[in-house]
Amino acid sequence: MAQFPDFVRIVEVGARDGLQNEAAVSTQDKVDLINALADAGLKDIEAGAFVSPKWVPQMADSSDVISALNLPNVNLSALTPNLRGAEAAKQVDIQEFAIFTAASEAFCQKNINCSIDESIDRFKDVMAFAKANNIRVRGYVSCVMGCPYQGDVDYNDVLKVSQRLLELGCYEISLGDTIGVGTAQKVDELLDLLLQHIDKSKLAVHFHDTYGQALTNIYTALSRGIATVDSAVAGLGGCPYAKGASGNVATEDVVYLLQGLGIEHGIDLERLAKAGWAICSALNKQPVSKVSLALKNTQNN
Ligand code: HMG
Ligand code: MG
Repeated sequence: MAQFPDFVRIVEVGARDGLQNEAAVSTQDKVDLINALADAGLKDIEAGAFVSPKWVPQMADSSDVISALNLPNVNLSALTPNLRGAEAAKQVDIQEFAIFTAASEAFCQKNINCSIDESIDRFKDVMAFAKANNIRVRGYVSCVMGCPYQGDVDYNDVLKVSQRLLELGCYEISLGDTIGVGTAQKVDELLDLLLQHIDKSKLAVHFHDTYGQALTNIYTALSRGIATVDSAVAGLGGCPYAKGASGNVATEDVVYLLQGLGIEHGIDLERLAKAGWAICSALNKQPVSKVSLALKNTQNN
């Protein structure tokens, strides 16, 4: 039986997952975006990534972006793949780290240049540092619905790596459909397995929209009681190590879905859409969000 949550927490990843795979925008454009997102009511914002600037040049100014923000009521997080990243994130007072690995060996190698086992080893240092500094840590598992290099992914591998991240001390696992190949049926099957072992309050969904299934997949996860959804304003982005993958599901579309279901979310849709229009104008592109485009057309009439 469907068990929709009363409230859904949206983790806005547009400034990281979105902008890591778009043309470079200025540091000020990023700061303006994050401020506009906070103004729209978003309380969890992934603001950057402390990764190698050679691997992802778009995130090289993360320290400058985060230093320029003053958002005491927002939980700002950032990717920290290793201790060096964690130390740099701490320097700018990041409140939440995000570590990331995969359910697919091949993707893990391409994305962070190590095996899944090695990634867990690296994270031990990050976790110890986070614990010593009272910083909470979120864990991402990529390729939960399929891998661009390996193809099918065994749901047992998703379970194993999720459990390892939880054992390390992550408070939540974000399940990444990195290349957006999932379907409602697959999401149901994955959750059938995971929810036997992991409480739903510890799971979030992070769906890219390559095949246009992200909203349907989110609806399926919501119906199973999952109450945290990652999304990117205007549907920005993709993944630099997953060729052809399109951006995350658009936050505007998720908010509209939640409104239709009568689920609380705390976000002002109009302000959110405006935040998306501003960053899209800086990027010289149209939002990849039907809701955003519909609101824009209504305004123009
Ligand atoms: P490595 O080559 O294995 O490690 O990279 P290394 O320690 O040998 O370092 C290599 C170079 O990076 C050195 O510089 C280091 O100094 C530097 P060089 O000597 O060549 O000049 N370096 C760093 N620089 C800045 N900050 C750091 C850092 N660490 C090392 N923290 C590493 C390992 C993880 C660093 C590298 O593979 C990397 O940066 N990968 C980027 C991965 C990434 O950002 N991918 C996209 C985000 S993940 C994603 O989008 C999926 C997600 O959205 C969920 C989903 O959708 O599934 C989360
Ligand atoms: Mg992603």
